[in-house]
Amino acid sequence: RDAMSEELKRKAAEAALEEVTSGMRLGIGTGSTAEQFVRALAEKVREGFSVIGVPTSERTAALCTELGVPLTTLEACPELDLTIDGADELDLQLRLIKGGGGALLREKIVATASLRMIVIADASKKVARLGAFPLPVEVVPFGLGATRNAIARALADLGYDAPILLRGGDTPFVTDGGHHILDIDLREITDADALSRALLDIPGVVDHGLFLGIADVAYLAGANGVERLVP
Ligand code: A5P
Repeated sequence: RDAMSEELKRKAAEAALEEVTSGMRLGIGTGSTAEQFVRALAEKVREGFSVIGVPTSERTAALCTELGVPLTTLEACPELDLTIDGADELDLQLRLIKGGGGALLREKIVATASLRMIVIADASKKVARLGAFPLPVEVVPFGLGATRNAIARALADLGYDAPILLRGGDTPFVTDGGHHILDIDLREITDADALSRALLDIPGVVDHGLFLGIADVAYLAGANGVERLVP
């Protein structure tokens, strides 16, 4: 990993940490930027800061355990104060594409269970229009080919001519929930709400990486400092 971009991710994570107060119930994201957040949070926990976290992936759970960040489950703690997570792309209305790390389903459940969501990223993730990053769609293994055909038809109806790739190819990637991921190269998403509804209507689709109306704030770290973005 490039040291400069790790430094930007750390700065974004530290800015978000300023909004965390002792006693909070936190959703903890997945990915390299969320990892910087866990490291910064663990330091505060060692200094006596009290938080309880719900991890959005097995990977994040393992890191929190290793660094001593106390964890609980969404079953034990179904309402959270704040979720902090990365994103693969975000636009100026704070609509996101997530799931590049494969954790989109738990990430969306945890973020939705939270009163607020903060996105942390390096400034290169900000785009005028979503879609250059292929949209991850989580699907159940049963009937994969049929689900993929149904997705292709729905996309054609919406006017997209988009390649759909099974993540992992011959050895498909398996999510924490036991599902697979189709990555859809849409290039430019014209109507994110219509696309979301069309995908969620397809049996076999568990969820997708569009996070619409979920994020409240983003901290974006760039060469000139950290920008605080609100929709
Ligand atoms: C995980 O499934 C994703 O949603 C991540 O939040 C996203 O991929 C961002 O990861 P990085 O912080 O590593 O770019």
